[in-house]
Amino acid sequence: MGEIDPAMTRSQAYEEAENVGRNESANPTLGDVIAQRYSRRDIMRGALAVTAITATVSPLALAAASAARAEGAAPVFDFPEVTAGVDDKHHVANGYDAQILIRWGDPVLSGAPDFDPQKQSADAQAKQFGYNNDYLGYIPLPDAENPSTHGLLVVNHEFSNEELMFPGLPKQDKEAAFGQMTKELVDIEMMAHGGSVLEIRKENGTWSVVPDSKYARRITPETEMTISGPAAGSDRMKTSYDAEGRKVRGMLNNCAGGVTPWGTWLTCEENFNGYFWGDYSDDHPEARNAKRYGVAGRWYNWGQYYDRFDVSKEPNEPNRFGWVVEIDPLDPNSVPKKRTAIGRFKHEGAASVVNKDGRLAIYQGDDQRFDYVYKFVTQGAVNSDDRAANMDLLDAGTLYVARYDADGTGEWLPLVHGEGPLTDTNGFASQADVLIETRRAADLLGATKMDRPEGTDVNPQTQKVYVMLTNNTRRKPEDVNAANPRAKNAFGHIIEMHPDGDDHTSTTFKWEILIKCGDPAIAEIGATFNPATTRDGWLGMPDTVCVDAKGRLWVGTDGQAEDSTGRTDGLYAVETEGALRGTSKLFFRCPVGAELCGPEATPDVETFFVAVQHPGEDGESWKAFGRASTFDDPATRWPDFDPNLPPRPSIVAITKRGGGKIAG
Ligand code: FEO
Ligand code: CA
Ligand code: CA
Repeated sequence: MGEIDPAMTRSQAYEEAENVGRNESANPTLGDVIAQRYSRRDIMRGALAVTAITATVSPLALAAASAARAEGAAPVFDFPEVTAGVDDKHHVANGYDAQILIRWGDPVLSGAPDFDPQKQSADAQAKQFGYNNDYLGYIPLPDAENPSTHGLLVVNHEFSNEELMFPGLPKQDKEAAFGQMTKELVDIEMMAHGGSVLEIRKENGTWSVVPDSKYARRITPETEMTISGPAAGSDRMKTSYDAEGRKVRGMLNNCAGGVTPWGTWLTCEENFNGYFWGDYSDDHPEARNAKRYGVAGRWYNWGQYYDRFDVSKEPNEPNRFGWVVEIDPLDPNSVPKKRTAIGRFKHEGAASVVNKDGRLAIYQGDDQRFDYVYKFVTQGAVNSDDRAANMDLLDAGTLYVARYDADGTGEWLPLVHGEGPLTDTNGFASQADVLIETRRAADLLGATKMDRPEGTDVNPQTQKVYVMLTNNTRRKPEDVNAANPRAKNAFGHIIEMHPDGDDHTSTTFKWEILIKCGDPAIAEIGATFNPATTRDGWLGMPDTVCVDAKGRLWVGTDGQAEDSTGRTDGLYAVETEGALRGTSKLFFRCPVGAELCGPEATPDVETFFVAVQHPGEDGESWKAFGRASTFDDPATRWPDFDPNLPPRPSIVAITKRGGGKIAG
């Protein structure tokens, strides 16, 4: 795996560590154009010149846009667009309210102390809301009078930023030899990982967390979990803690996820490799496996204090991470289960759909440069009358990896032991081996190398599947393929897939690129938004995604910045049908340095929850703990801002002022 540049933030390091040994060839022409366009002096504190669009969009594009309007194409989204730009506030469309529901450090469990950054402890953090909220899933409570105003919100806490969490602490990484990461601080940041279950309720138009709820729960890297499915009990899953290979403490780097039709939470382990220390000898039986996943990454200091995070001492421990975890949030005493049938990779999310024959299909990305898109199909059907009957449905089924062919068709290739190359000859003695080394199995099947597959979601009305390919600047011109057509793809693209026969169990599908992202006014970028997209509405680096109950596509971004796009990350509404297909429109914008995660709507689409992750992480524009800020005007600060507190990762509830559906 690639080395981490000490100048990078942790989330940039995550992105950069996805190097699989390719050399980046710089493209100074395009880089110069972008740098010139978004140089600081050209950004007017919030908005690029409105006149830019008429000056830079081709007459042909403008003609197409007016043609679309002339046809009477009706947008499915109705809201006044937010102005793109960069500042330290969040911005939501006019006529909407964005209220902070909960922030890092706020109480989750009974008895949790109030947040005090100067008095952090592992015990306190284990009861408080964790750091870097990513996936959000809303699950109506079965006895709720209105399922859209009373439910559980399940939240992933993906990773931590020590330099933002701990007052006065500089960035800690292996270059700094983690010099100041004491056991006390490691214990706090461990408890800041995992997940939270919150009971939430809307009263008089305002959402709040129900205090002392019986459902409230914190999941951490210490929570005991069961390993289930075909890899459970494998010798390769056994450690000194678990001689049977059937139980594990905790989950790591849970990024996106999903909610099943029976109301359980699928929470997905992504960059688990970064939590491990140590080395394998070249002839160690796990060395090849470890290398394919970038183990041991040493992005954290946990291995100094805990042997299980040191692969020299516990060589099988990494095999117990990189899975999809199923948690029943209705039972706070339930034991989470790692569902190994769904495969081991850097899972981004797990969007599911009930197929017409009743079986469940789960679509997923493996977020690494040149890695793959997967689908899991259960063997059994979902039982809509008996919740308990579904509780082990995810332990049996078929995992597939996608091959995208140049003619717009594609094939799902099954990862089944004994079929094709997945045999003893290639080192796969069982289905457990295929799953533990999912990536190598997929390599042998000839899957298509993608530009970092992030979020996926399914529109159950059209059966279309949306896959966010966030970017891949390491793709060389000789590496392009039809589904990843741009070399040095800095801004990513969105693929739409349609299973043949509207059947999610089919092994064949059609696909097309919905949008190539980036600034459509810079011809060299090659973006392909519908020309009806405004200067504020185009996006780059698509990451999180949500199809709401009205079948509308919403896309969150990760990595937009002043110098790359002239805008912070945000939530965009994207048209998928008709003459306006491919039009994108900005609904919500994050404060600088933050990433837009978790978009999730209530069933009535009257509320959108978004997770604002690592605000201020860029470290330049907005420095925490009283360090100099370029945004020191109190009138422009994010409502969370307190000069004595860091900017905190937060969940924001967005509602229409006076009530009603979001965006019409
Ligand atoms: Fe955690 Fe790939 O985003
Ligand atoms: Ca993501
Ligand atoms: Ca990302």
